[in-house]
Formats: sequence, C-alpha cells, structure tokens
Amino acid sequence: MKRIKRIGILTAGGDCPGLNAAIRGVGKAVLGRYGIEAIGIRDGFLGLIENRMFPLDRTSLAGILTVGGTILGTSRVKPHRLERNGRVRDMRGLILKNCAKNGLDAVVCIGGDGTQKNALRLVEKGVPIITLPKTIDNDVAMTDASFGFDTALGIATEAIDRLHSTAHSHHRIIVTEIMGHRAGWLALGAGIAGGADVILIPEIPYNVGKIARAIRRRSESGSNFSIVAIAEGALSREYAARFRAVKARKSRARSEGAAAQARAELAELDQHHAGNTLRLAHRLEKLTGLECRVTILGYVQRGGAPSAVDRLLATRLGTACAELIHKGVFGVMVAARGDATLPVPLDQVAGKRKEVPLTHPWLATARAVGTSLGD
Ligand code: F6P
Repeated sequence: MKRIKRIGILTAGGDCPGLNAAIRGVGKAVLGRYGIEAIGIRDGFLGLIENRMFPLDRTSLAGILTVGGTILGTSRVKPHRLERNGRVRDMRGLILKNCAKNGLDAVVCIGGDGTQKNALRLVEKGVPIITLPKTIDNDVAMTDASFGFDTALGIATEAIDRLHSTAHSHHRIIVTEIMGHRAGWLALGAGIAGGADVILIPEIPYNVGKIARAIRRRSESGSNFSIVAIAEGALSREYAARFRAVKARKSRARSEGAAAQARAELAELDQHHAGNTLRLAHRLEKLTGLECRVTILGYVQRGGAPSAVDRLLATRLGTACAELIHKGVFGVMVAARGDATLPVPLDQVAGKRKEVPLTHPWLATARAVGTSLGD
C-alpha cells in the first residue's frame, strides 16, 4: 500500500456550522498522529480546478473549532460540469493533474448530498477520496446524523419560541418558513421542539382547507393564535400532483424535445413555488379570518457558531476520517452509526436522499400532541 504523505481538504455545497470543527479534526489528527501534511483547497471543487490551495498547519487549524462557516470557502461547482461563458466542460482531467502537481495522495471532501455525488464522479476517474457528511437539512443517506443539523435545529426552535409570544399577543397566525427543499427534518424537529400548531414538510403534501380547519378549531377552543412551521419545499396536494405528473413525463420522454419541454415546465413550477409561503399565508388569512404574518428564517439557520453536539460530531467524524486515510481506505463516506463511525462506500450514498419516512416516530409524536401535519 502506498504511504499517504499529503492530503487536500475541501468544503463544498452550502456552508453550515461545524465545517471548521471537521477541518480541524481531520487536520490535527493527520498531522499529529500520522505525520501526514494537510493542504486546504479553496472554494470547494473550484479550488481543485483552479489550483488554489494553501498549507494547513497548526496555526491555521488553531482557534477555529467554535467558528461558523468554513475557513476554506465553498461553492456549488461540479467537477464534471463547469459552466462558463455558456459552455459546459468536464474538469476531472485537470483536477487529476492538479492533485499530482500538488503531491496530493488523497482528498477529503466535506459536503452534503450533492458533494457525495460529485466525489463519486471523481473517484470513478481515479482520485482517492474520502468524504464527511454535513448539512443543516439532515438528508445525507446512510448516516445517523450530519453536522450542521443540530445547530440549525436550535436556531429554528428558538425562532419559533420567539414567534409564539408575538403571535399570542396579537392574536395572529405566524407562518414561519424553515430551510429544507426536499426533506422536512428541520421543520419537523423545530416544529415539535418549538410547539408549532401546524407543521408542513415536503414528504406530506398539505391540504389548505384542513390547515385552516385546525387553526379555526384552536380559535374556537380559546387559542386565537397559531404558529405554522413550513419547510421551504412543502407543497400543496394540487401542486405536488402537478410536479409528480411532469416528473413522470420527463422520465418517460422519448425525444430530447419532450424532455426539454418537461424540464422547462419543472423550472416554471419551481419558480412559482418560490412564493408558496406567502400565498399560503394569504389563503389562511381569508379562510380563518385571523390576521396572518410570514417570517422566513433563511440563512440565519446556517450561520454562526456550531452547537456542542455539532462540534463533537464533526470532531468525531473528522478524526475517524484521519484514521481511515492512514489505513488507505478511500471511496467512502465516514458515517455516524450510534456512538461509532463507519466507512460507507460512496455509491451507496450518492444520489440517495434521506427523507422523513412516513412511519417516522417524530410524525407520530407531532400528531399525538395535536399538531396538524396538513393532511
Ligand atoms: O443544503 C442546505 C440548504 O440550506 C437548503 O436547505 C437550502 O434550500 C439551500 O441550502 C439553499 O442554499 P443556497 O442558497 O446557498 O444555494
């Protein structure tokens, strides 16, 4: 087995709390325990393409455990599809050359589900890669947890707590939009922890009439205010049906023209969905007669210092990653399994989103305390 002497580390996709803790965990453990040099790659896969790297020594790894964001910078650039000046190019050959030029024996890619897919595409071209799961969405497959989620859960829960007192004082409905395009973990977790009256997630298409009924029932029983926690990707039943129909048409398309038409329709539906939370609020105001306000939590959920749980998870996964690098284990994601860590082959992770299963105990918990899930 080839001795690993130098590795690169990159962070890709949306940032989240805990990225620096993970960089520090990998960096400190490879340097201190195995005498492996660490190189920081700037701005995700873009830094690999543009050859922008710098040494990560003890000084650059110090003092970052508690800091939000990523000292490496990040981007959503894909190694196999770089779009520039209207052209799309596969940059994996150049990435291989840049790895060799910088003496990188392996690359650690820290990211969410998109990064796992991109990493696999590089593995297929012969780059030794190991990944770590991060996301506030908690939707990376094959791992119990991803760092970033716990911090965001705390932030969103605190926001719901604060919205409660103002909603209560003004006898209003407050609809609060929580991140999560395709998976509802964050809205569901924060909704339960913050005591939201209605929780809407992408996995359960909602019926506006039923939400209004649940709110009216609360008013009739003396609680004339309500908190609706909606994941940004939650869809009404009608909309979900249209999405499903166009997606099915796209996968059945026999000609490029038909596929392009379906893609354009999906993009249009996506664009229209952007104003979904506001539209829902207007409809609820009309249907209930209660005043309704909207609060979009947005990027606040991704910013700032990581929670203790995320620092611990990121350090645990990062140091386990260093040990696997030393052992020459690549093509895997370092997953959390109970108290242990486990290398999972990337082809078992890439392209497999972890959504909230309809049998998940959190859903039963929410229903048991009388929360409407809009269905
Ligand atoms: O992956 C986390 C996430 O925060 C999603 O919940 C959100 O939809 C997305 O990233 C938005 O990120 P950006 O605007 O940076 O692409």
